[in-house]
Amino acid sequence: MILLTGGTGFIGSHAAVELLSGGYDVIVLDDLSNSSFEVIDRIEKISGIRPKFVQGDVKDVAVLNKLFGEFPIEGVMHFAGLKAVGDSFKYPLEYYSENVVGTCVLLSVMQAFGVYDIVFSSSATVYKPSNDMPLSEQAEVGEQSNPYGRTKAVVEKMLADLALSDPKWSIAILRYFNPIGAHPSGLLGEAPNGVPNNLVPYITKVLTGKLERLHVFGDDFDTEDGTGVRDYIHVEDLSLGHLKAYEFLKHHSGVNVWNLGTGIGHSVFDVVRAFERVTGRSIPYEISARREGDIARCWANPSKALLDLEWKAERTLDDMVRDAWRWAQYNLN
Ligand code: NAD
Ligand code: UFG
Repeated sequence: MILLTGGTGFIGSHAAVELLSGGYDVIVLDDLSNSSFEVIDRIEKISGIRPKFVQGDVKDVAVLNKLFGEFPIEGVMHFAGLKAVGDSFKYPLEYYSENVVGTCVLLSVMQAFGVYDIVFSSSATVYKPSNDMPLSEQAEVGEQSNPYGRTKAVVEKMLADLALSDPKWSIAILRYFNPIGAHPSGLLGEAPNGVPNNLVPYITKVLTGKLERLHVFGDDFDTEDGTGVRDYIHVEDLSLGHLKAYEFLKHHSGVNVWNLGTGIGHSVFDVVRAFERVTGRSIPYEISARREGDIARCWANPSKALLDLEWKAERTLDDMVRDAWRWAQYNLN
């Protein structure tokens, strides 16, 4: 059985479907601080199997002791955490608590119960902004532009130290680039509360009339059309990467790091045009000032994942946008 912390969230819920469909038994631990119980029904609707669910906090030792005591957990995918870059400046202690302390508590309980396989959700934001593109796993880590990114870097170090202390640990650190898209059924997707920080949820709110226009954060970057370039990856491709990484851990110990990206950079205008193609509607926008901390370009060299895991992202930007739009139409109204 695999424990998915944060398994009712955006990425965790897609991973749950992937694992259940792959024949794994899944138990979800989530405090529902950024997701809802209905997601469990939807995971069941898609996969035909209902994952076990426990509502609880990953920082709560008693909850974890009970969980590991009651269920035959063999490995963990750790998604639970906070992820809003802007909020991390306002509430750094909450970010360190949820992301760093939460992981520390989880690892301690895993160790106590002799569970040593873990897949951790890291981020491309751990890389130094001055690295050349594309980013391989060898690129320098450091100088994260925000507290959120620093919490991910701290956890990566903690995992490395843990692996050094005991060869029983098998650890996968997955550095996600920009996960977007949704399940093609329209049943699972991303539903941030309030005004979205990220590009795709913002655009879908503009398209559904909930927000007036997109603010493009800068058109004077050193990129082809002047807007920021990112490596957008479909959440379904990302989920398959988790399954492959987990399977790799069965035969390898120590710390293993993989970039999960497509290797292709798309600008803000590329994403806008993809939405316009897919929806047949035009997206009102205005050019605004650059957002603090935003870099011009960020995309992956994903070849290590291909080599080690035989994993490669297959879905195109149009696929991502089509699925994100279907999800928005079914759910944002
Ligand atoms: P999400 O907010 O949709 O999912 C996180 C889930 O964790 C939510 O369901 C939330 O309720 C739960 N949670 C939060 N704190 C918890 C706690 N203390 N105990 C139990 N459950 C808790 O986010 P997501 O986009 O699915 O991200 C999953 C992971 O991937 C996070 O660690 C995030 O930092 C990381 N990540 C996300 C992105 C992205 O762009 N979405 C990029 C890089 C890395
Ligand atoms: N952008 C806009 N307008 C918006 C929102 C975004 O122009 O309303 C632009 C940004 O300036 C950037 C691009 O769209 O050029 C993508 O921005 P997102 O906020 O969607 O994503 P980021 O690349 O800033 O950050 C994401 C995640 C982080 C993660 C990082 C690297 O939100 O958690 O990818 O993995 F750390």
